[in-house]
Amino acid sequence: MEINGKTRTCGLIGNPVEHTLSPLIHNTLAKRLGQELVYVPFHVEQGRLAEAVKGAQALNILGLNVTVPYKSEVIACLAQIDDLAKNIGAVNTLVRTADGYKGYNTDMEGLYRAMQSEGIRIAGEQIILLGAGGAARAVAWLCAAKGAEKVYLLNRTLDRAQTVAAEVNASVGRETIMPMKLADHAAIPEGKYLAIQGTSVGLSPNNEDVVIADDAFYEKVHTGFDLIYNPWETKFMRLVKAHGGRAYNGLKMLLYQGIIAYELWNEIAVPESEAQIVYESLRNAIS
Ligand code: ATR
Repeated sequence: MEINGKTRTCGLIGNPVEHTLSPLIHNTLAKRLGQELVYVPFHVEQGRLAEAVKGAQALNILGLNVTVPYKSEVIACLAQIDDLAKNIGAVNTLVRTADGYKGYNTDMEGLYRAMQSEGIRIAGEQIILLGAGGAARAVAWLCAAKGAEKVYLLNRTLDRAQTVAAEVNASVGRETIMPMKLADHAAIPEGKYLAIQGTSVGLSPNNEDVVIADDAFYEKVHTGFDLIYNPWETKFMRLVKAHGGRAYNGLKMLLYQGIIAYELWNEIAVPESEAQIVYESLRNAIS
């Protein structure tokens, strides 16, 4: 693509940003859709986030993604914030307005779209959510926002699960989230569940680690969704499959969080056929 006087800039702010796949997503989309846009990583030093966001506004940067460790801290730098992002307390996408940036959480909308693309429902479902850290906390909000019937929220540290459950339940006005200790998973009532793996256990290079190893647990899982995509197939996914369930990794979540950000910046809908092409590029990049 030729860079000229009309080229618009988007980018990623975080620390580190050196291993990001986001430039691949956005620059592939811009090229395929014939849009004059470039996407670049910006390594922002600790203590300089507010300065970076202010500078981006002054430089007419159209949009930014935000990654570790700034997803919560960036909220104080925004002119506006979307409701879901506000509830979650984490923002990964900024869209420029005349007065400053508006913040969104496309990680969670991305997870939702990834699930829809695989035919996985949240509304009315019985869900087991593993973890209560930053990622799992956001999934708990998503499940409640999209009408899950019940979410058993299992965490090694019970306190964290209880805090998330109290916040989400108070907001939706019913006891949707049931906090439990990970070790008590056998107390989950018999039935078939969608299980979402939101801990960091099993992430490369610890490919053989899994948050629950007990076979009896996997008998209760009809579908497993791991937020991890490296390795391609986690031990959690292998155990789900070994017990007859379907299992998915987190690469489509990464894909769709990027697609949704691109749509917000450009005020367009990205065709599904293009999303599939970007998905193949991501697969090639990580293999
Ligand atoms: P992230 O932002 O990726 O969610 P995080 O906030 O550090 O990262 O959360 C990590 C999650 O993985 C937590 O749910 C954590 O459980 P605790 O709250 O008990 O720490 C979970 N986790 C990490 N290592 C674990 C392990 N060895 N066994 C069980 N859970 C683990």
